[in-house]
Amino acid sequence: MAGPRRGRSLVAALLLAPLLFFRLDDVFTSFSSRAPSTSLRRSSESVLVAPGKQTGQRLQLTLCQARGGDAKGSLVVIAGPPAAGKGTQCEKIKDKYGFVHISTGDILRENVKQETDLGLKAKGYMDSGALVPSELIVDLVKDRLTKDDVKEKGCLLDGFPRAPDQAEAMVDAGLKVEKFLVIKVPDDTLVERGCGRRLDPETGEIYHLKFRPPPEEVVDRLVHRSDDQEDKIRERLKNYHSQIDGITPFFKDVIYEVDGTGKPDQVFEIIEEDLDKL
Ligand code: AP5
Repeated sequence: MAGPRRGRSLVAALLLAPLLFFRLDDVFTSFSSRAPSTSLRRSSESVLVAPGKQTGQRLQLTLCQARGGDAKGSLVVIAGPPAAGKGTQCEKIKDKYGFVHISTGDILRENVKQETDLGLKAKGYMDSGALVPSELIVDLVKDRLTKDDVKEKGCLLDGFPRAPDQAEAMVDAGLKVEKFLVIKVPDDTLVERGCGRRLDPETGEIYHLKFRPPPEEVVDRLVHRSDDQEDKIRERLKNYHSQIDGITPFFKDVIYEVDGTGKPDQVFEIIEEDLDKL
């Protein structure tokens, strides 16, 4: 009986061998096609539409490689002109989706407050409404994005990239952005929002004297940002408008424009529509 069984096994092995080579070849091709990092990022969508379990694994690997090895969370950028409501929306997004919120404006302001080297260099630019030179901020952001909390929970990047060279640095570093939200609000509304903004240094709450009045007991400790004067806001707006068209082409496949003119909760509903798809 052993003879015929061994014979059948041999026949089965001969029949299955070409199939095995086909699968190995398939796997090899899919990995080798990921080799150049730029085409890797651009090809992830086509990998996504192909069916099957193995394809899902490939997609995960593709995204992870682009985010530095073992990232699980999404990378979402929130952009828009000064006082558009980025910080206000980030609080809501963070609460619902659990992303780590990284605001380059907050990082820079903290450095100015602590009078660090970076803060001392950045202060003059920030006070005048100018952008801080990219070389002061790019490595810091790239480094922060490799930390474990960001890889695990995903990240909401607020205020970066702010110039085309910053966008390019992200692409070169293989940081794959899954959504690039751009909040749109007319300039005159932005001036009103900026001039009336007050920040609570203890809780981080963002108030507005008219649109979100602070409770009586915190009023005395509220801070009026040094760049929230009309002339500074207009200077910041000028900078924003001169940069944004050079940034968006880097993210054209993942841009989502958000009408930011409604009440904060209405704006959040628009954002939710898109982020729920992640
Ligand atoms: P940053 O702190 O990033 O400032 P910004 O982009 O100018 O944005 P803001 O913080 O002013 O506004 P926001 O959109 O968060 O609005 P908010 O929610 O507070 O940057 C500051 C500076 O740092 C820059 O000028 C630059 O010098 C430097 N910098 C930062 N990043 C840099 C980078 N990558 N490269 C180089 N330089 C960099 O809302 C505003 C007000 O409106 C609030 O009072 C709020 O209550 C109210 N509000 C919000 N939403 C609504 C609504 N829907 N209806 C009515 N009121 C609303």
